Amino acid sequence: MQNAGIAALGLNWRYLAFDVAPEQLQPAIEGARTMGFIGLNLTVPHKILAVPMMDEVDAAARKWGAVNTIVFEARGVDGEWRPVGQTEPGARAAVRAHGYNTDADAIIQALREEFPLKELRGAKVLLLGAGGAASAAALRLAEEGIATLWIVNRTKSKARELKDAVLRTFPGFDAREGFPDTAVDLVINGTSLGLKAEDPMPLDAAWLERNRPGRVFDMIYRPRETALLKAARSVGCQTANGMGMLLHQGARALELWTEKRAPVAAMRAALEANIYV
Ligand code: ATR
Repeated sequence: MQNAGIAALGLNWRYLAFDVAPEQLQPAIEGARTMGFIGLNLTVPHKILAVPMMDEVDAAARKWGAVNTIVFEARGVDGEWRPVGQTEPGARAAVRAHGYNTDADAIIQALREEFPLKELRGAKVLLLGAGGAASAAALRLAEEGIATLWIVNRTKSKARELKDAVLRTFPGFDAREGFPDTAVDLVINGTSLGLKAEDPMPLDAAWLERNRPGRVFDMIYRPRETALLKAARSVGCQTANGMGMLLHQGARALELWTEKRAPVAAMRAALEANIYV
């Protein structure tokens, strides 16, 4: 996806994957900075660990407590910090690591694109899970002005903590723990249940059958159709998987590194061609 985007922009860059142990994250970031890398994407568990390692943390990354995109920035002669990718190698006196989070906006963008639910404002949403991904979604949905958010999680104390965190950030917002007592517009799976074929569903089929939510979104994108999505589709719900989230968090990261509009169509085509092979 990123290499297709880079090629479409005509850049002589490469996007590579590295396995880094959590205890080696700091030297890995330092090494990338020293070697003139343009930036990094981070995945679990590095997103949270990286926050205190940044020289600068943008508002969203600070709010969600997680960094998924690092932009290395060089200070120019005018004193302004610019993405390293936009500067000449000889003009990089100081380089800093600027942490961003493009995940939370990506879920909103994906939901808008997948469902005719153009206006999330006023929607009733059931969120499954209270981990990193679910927390970012909860806070971002509250910010978006949905009407009510119900949070259900295996470990109930974590659902309560997430509800409290949402209420601290958005006082007066209607966040609740447990299952809704009314029809919901949207169910989001933010748990890891569904990644493995033998996983039970994060929501039982009888609940889906009884409640028939309008839309069901699974953050999981592999497999293409989780058991949850299949069951939801069979009772007439609109469904979508997490591929749109993956696409949009990556497209936004590329925009931060290049300061150009991301070639989303090329990135989507590459993702669709490669993700299920
Ligand atoms: P991520 O960063 O991908 O969100 P995470 O923070 O580890 O990962 O969160 C995983 C989520 O999936 C949590 O909500 C977790 O529930 P717990 O808080 O009870 O651990 C949920 N989850 C993982 N395995 C589960 C299982 N077997 N049954 C129910 N929920 C599960």
